[in-house]
Amino acid sequence: MVRIRHAEAADYGRVSPRPDAWWGGRPMRTMLPRLFFEHFRETSFVAEDEGELVGFLCGFLSQTYPDQAYVHFVGVRPDRRGGGLGRELYERFFEAALAAGRPVVRCVTAPVNEASVAFHTRLGFEIEAEVPDYDGSDEPRVLLRKNLS
Ligand SMILES: CC(C)(COP(=O)(O)OP(=O)(O)OC[C@H]1O[C@@H](n2cnc3c(N)ncnc32)[C@H](O)[C@@H]1OP(=O)(O)O)[C@@H](O)C(=O)NCCC(=O)NCCS
Repeated sequence: MVRIRHAEAADYGRVSPRPDAWWGGRPMRTMLPRLFFEHFRETSFVAEDEGELVGFLCGFLSQTYPDQAYVHFVGVRPDRRGGGLGRELYERFFEAALAAGRPVVRCVTAPVNEASVAFHTRLGFEIEAEVPDYDGSDEPRVLLRKNLS
C-alpha cells in the first residue's frame, strides 16, 4: 500500500539519484538540491510502497507572493504511473498550501515535456504563458497556474 508522508532530510540520498532515469534520461539530478529536503519539508512529500520509493514532490511557499505556493519537482516511478499517484502527491501539496493560506499554486515545466503539460492540465492547471529563454538561453518554459479556491 502506498503511503505519502512529508519529506525528511534523510530521504535525499535515495531520491537524488532517481530524476535522471525517471525523467527519461534528461540530466535532472542537479536541479534537485538537498535544500528541499532540509528547508521545505512541510511542503515536500515522498511516496513509499513497502518502504520502496515510488514518488516524490518538492515544493515551497513563495517568499515573494503571499498568496502563492510553488511546485519545483514531481516524479513518479515509471512502473507506477497512470494510477493516480501523481495526482495524490499534488493533493497533499494543495492541502498544505491551503492550510498555509496559499490559494494559488504555480509551477513551470519544459515544453518538450508534453506529458507534464498534459498531467498538469488534467489537474486543473492553466497555461499562463510559454516563455522562451525563461531559465536562460535555449531554456523555454511553460508557466502553469491553478487557483485552489
Ligand atoms: C508527470 C507524472 C508525475 C504523472 O504521474 P502519474 O502518477 O502517472 O499521474 P496520475 O496517474 O496521477 O495522472 C493524473 C492525471 O493526469 C493524466 N496524465 C498523467 N500522465 C499523462 C500523460 N503522460 N499524458 C496525458 N495525461 C496524463 C492522467 O490521465 C490523469 O488524468 P485523470 O485523473 O483526469 O484521469 C509522471 O508521469 C512522471 O513522473 N513523469 C516524469 C517526471 C516529470 O516530467 N515530472 C513533471 C515535471 S516536474
